[in-house]
Order: sequence, then structure tokens, then C-alpha cells
Amino acid sequence: MLKIAVFASGRGSNFEALHSAIQEQHIPANIVVAISNNSQSGALQIARTKNIPALHISYTQFAERSHFVQHLLTELQRHHVNFIVLAGYMKKIPKEIIAEYRNRIINIHPALLPKFGGEGMFGHHVHEAVIKAKEKFSGATVHLVDEEYDRGAIILQEKVEVSTDDTPTTLAQKVLEIEHSILPNAVRLFAEEKLV
Ligand code: GRF
Repeated sequence: MLKIAVFASGRGSNFEALHSAIQEQHIPANIVVAISNNSQSGALQIARTKNIPALHISYTQFAERSHFVQHLLTELQRHHVNFIVLAGYMKKIPKEIIAEYRNRIINIHPALLPKFGGEGMFGHHVHEAVIKAKEKFSGATVHLVDEEYDRGAIILQEKVEVSTDDTPTTLAQKVLEIEHSILPNAVRLFAEEKLV
């Protein structure tokens, strides 16, 4: 059984979509904790309505980086987390956590990696870059997280057509719909041990 920690910084629609899919599609997984660097994150609010422990953990709360990392690790262990989903998490995951959860951390990215990834490529920046490059297609990618931004092995990817009248906002909306289906699908692959 996957015991998932979801890390999210913003609105939390991917968190919510994953939570609903796990219940409705009987994915053998449980979201056991939600963690955000942002105390105002919608993801934390949604988690609380579902009685999922919701933790605000930010490095700014600690005098030293090592204390922050230790606190994160302690919380993950306390909740028996064996899998991590980054769902709109805007901070870099500490390398100690990547080492501890190697090949057990996935991220959702709102473009067709390896294009339009890397540092600075998040949120509306991605969709602006896709439109500026006159790409015919964009999409979403679920990938494993390693020490480099957006570079880990790709697990699932789905594309969507970019129309000539798309704006970053309309494109983001189309891509978000795909995110909401491929993220649970990727979690299912791990939960059902279809990936080795
Ligand atoms: C999504 O587009 C995700 O791909 C990106 O940040 C956005 C998060 O949206 N990394 P939400 O908080 O899940 O609604």
C-alpha cells in the first residue's frame, strides 16, 4: 500500500484530483500527509477538510538548513510515508530526502518534458514559453525526481493541441485537465507495482 506525502505550494487542484481518484478508482494508496512551504496553500486547506494531516513546513522556520531537513524527514517517517508526490511544489526537494526516497518521488510538470523544463520554468512561464515558441502541442508530464530540475525519468506524458488563439491562461486550463488525469494514473502504476 502506498502511503503518500503530497507536497504542494499553491491552489491544490492536483492534490484534490489525486485524492478523489484514489477513492473513486480504488487505487491502493492513501494520502497520509500534505506538506506545504506556504501556510496559505489551498492544498493544506483541502487536506484539512478531508482530515488529512496538513503541515506547514518552511526552511524559514529553522535557524539551520539541517534542522529543516531533519524535521521533514522526521515528519515523513512519523507518518510512515513510502512515496512522495510533488503537486505544484515550488521549492527544491532537499537532496537528503531524494536520497532517502530514491525512485519514490514523482512530480507533475505542465509541459512536454524535456522541452520547457528546468529552473524558472514553472506556472505561467511554461505556457508563455510554449506559445512564444509557436509549439503545435503542449501537455503534461509525470516524472521521477532526482537532483536536477525536471530531468528524472518520464513516467507518463499526454499531449494537447495548442490553438492559435490560446493564451497562457487558456492553455494552462487545458493542460491542467490532463494533469488531473495523468497524475492519478502514474500513482496507480506505482501502487499496483507496474513499474520496477
Ligand atoms: C500545476 O500546473 C502543476 O503542473 C504546476 O503547478 C500547478 C499546480 O496547480 N507545477 P495546483 O496547485 O495543483 O492547482
